[in-house]
Order: sequence, then structure tokens, then C-alpha cells
Amino acid sequence: MMEADYKSKSLCENVRLSENRDSVFIIDQTLLPYKEVYSELKSLEDFYEAIYMLRVRGAPAIGICAGYALAVLASKISCSNPDEFFSKLRSIKERLNSSRPTAVNLSKALDRVENAALSRSGQGIDAIIDAMFRESISIQAEDVEMCRRISEYGLTLVKSGDGILTHCNAGPLATSRYGTGLGPLFLGKERGYNFHVYADETRPLLQGARLTAYELNRAGIDVTVICDNMASIVMHQGKIDACFAGCDRVAANGDTANKIGTSGVAILAKHYGIPFYVFCPSSTIDFSCASGKDIVIEERSGEEIGSLFFKEKTVPDGVKCYNPAFDVTDNGLITAIVTEKGICRAPYDVSLGLLFG
Ligand code: MRU
Repeated sequence: MMEADYKSKSLCENVRLSENRDSVFIIDQTLLPYKEVYSELKSLEDFYEAIYMLRVRGAPAIGICAGYALAVLASKISCSNPDEFFSKLRSIKERLNSSRPTAVNLSKALDRVENAALSRSGQGIDAIIDAMFRESISIQAEDVEMCRRISEYGLTLVKSGDGILTHCNAGPLATSRYGTGLGPLFLGKERGYNFHVYADETRPLLQGARLTAYELNRAGIDVTVICDNMASIVMHQGKIDACFAGCDRVAANGDTANKIGTSGVAILAKHYGIPFYVFCPSSTIDFSCASGKDIVIEERSGEEIGSLFFKEKTVPDGVKCYNPAFDVTDNGLITAIVTEKGICRAPYDVSLGLLFG
């Protein structure tokens, strides 16, 4: 671990391949906002632990990190023939893929980097490794471009002065640059827009309070943190013109998995007649899921609810905690899905299919 002069670094360096390509540096998101520390990931267990513990988190950032991880770890495989290489590669891939189940970016990135290797299978290990690094670097470069385009489209949906409610964190920390759900806010700021953002704190891991507020505040964007159960009152008080959310997996029919609590925000937004927008790079769409029922929801330790961020435990000993990390927002609650190719409206099986099918 090393203390980072994070403020002087480009935000797209939250996940960075080392110069000699034998490790990956991440800003440890579990330590933010008060400690800006880079961790160097070298071994399979370093990568697994960093993704599982949300040191690197957010669907696109998980994919970017896993893509680099597979290339770095492949370059360290010792083997005597290609069959042995590919067999070891498969088991590394499976371990990485098991770190978190909901964000499809993880398995998609791993498939891409493995396929790059397979496409060079007859050409020797050096060519295989080279192809894997190229593919993993492309995944990050594509993400920067997708986020920029999503931000442009998103900005057309709002105007200066608007109040925006966010849930979890879909900013640069969760992607590469700009972010998805926060992207229009950063782009708008660059162009002189003045937004008032209400960031749900996002229990139990506080990505809204710790990360969204950190990113917006350092960019000079007006941000106010609220507890998750305050979303209704700020909507009722007329403070919110639009809700912006990221996503971890979007099914073919537009049902959307995102951080636990997102579907509640969407239900409230419908009640108050406020538009609810999902920001979605194509790397997060999973056409193999017909609907949200096919999306696996990660379940995490109950300790995250009762003790992680408290000096004293808040739940009596012996009492169970149930901690699903994501929920699915029904497509009927979503006003539009903003992608890098354009803004999709219902019916989403048609609009997503037209752009990406
Ligand atoms: O558990 P997390 O913090 O990885 O959950 C992240 C989210 O729910 C984000 O909203 C989503 O990944 C989109 S990030 C552009």
C-alpha cells in the first residue's frame, strides 16, 4: 500500500496497469473519503480479495480490473505446453469470476481477454500474452469513450439548476473517467451548469456518502447527503427534478439490477412523477437474461449492516441480518436507459435490441 497524492492524479487512474505489466494499482475505495491510498495487486488472491471486499467496485471498474488481472496473472503462468497454459488460465478466470456475481461486466471482460488468448493459441505464449494485454487495455479505453458519450446524452435530459437524486456511486471511481450516472453532472459542471445533487448515503456500505459525495464535492458540484429513507421527503418537497442511477446488469427487457435500494427510489419517483433514468454502458447489458428474474443477486455478510461503520454494534447479538447487495428495478419504473449509442425508451426489448442486438 502507498499513500496517494490522489488529488493530483487523473481520475481515470483509479485502476491502472503498472508500467512493467506485472501488477495493477487501484485506489482502495474502502478507505475513501479520508484516506487516499493506492494498493498494488499482484497475486490471484490480491485481485479476488480486492474485488470481493469492494476495494475496487462499480460494474465497469470491476470489469476493467478483472481484465487486467487475467492478463497479468497469465503472464506469470509457468507451463510446459499450451494445453497446460490454457487449463491454468481457465482456473484463474473461474476464481476471478466467482468474486462477485451480479455485475455482468466482470464475466464479459474475462471472456474477452480469454478469447483474445484463444485467438492466438497457435502463435506461442508471447503472442498470447500480448493479445491479452491489448484486449484488457481496450476494455478500459472503450469505457472512457462510452462514459463520455453517455454523459453527453444524459446532459440533454436535464437543465442547469435542476435537483438530481443519486443512489450508490456511478462516478469515475466506478468506471474510468466521468462515470455513467454521475457523468452528466461532471460534464455539465465543465459547461457551467449548476446542479443540486442529493446523494442517498446508500446503506450498508455508504457508497453515496463516502464516494459520490467525495467525487462531486472535489469537482465543486453542490452535493447534499441524505439517509436512504429521506428520498421520499426531498421528492415531496420539490427538490428533485430527476433521479440518476447506474446499473450492474440490464436484462433484455430493460429490468435493471443496481445497488440495493435503487428499486425503492424508482418506485418513489413514479409516485411523485419524477423521471428515473438508468445510465448503462453496453458492457452492462446482458441479453442472455430475458428479465430481471434471471439476474443473480449477491448476498453479503450481515456484519456489514450491524457493525461495519459503527463504534458499537447496532444489532443485538444473536439477531440475524439479511443483506442482499442489489435489487432489480422493473423496466416499467424506468423513464429511459441512457447508453453510449443513444437514449432507449420502453419497450426496452425493442429499443435495446435495435441499438445493440
Ligand atoms: O456494490 P457496488 O458498490 O459495486 O455497487 C455498484 C453499483 O451499484 C453501481 O451503481 C453500478 O455498479 C454502476 S457503476 C457505473
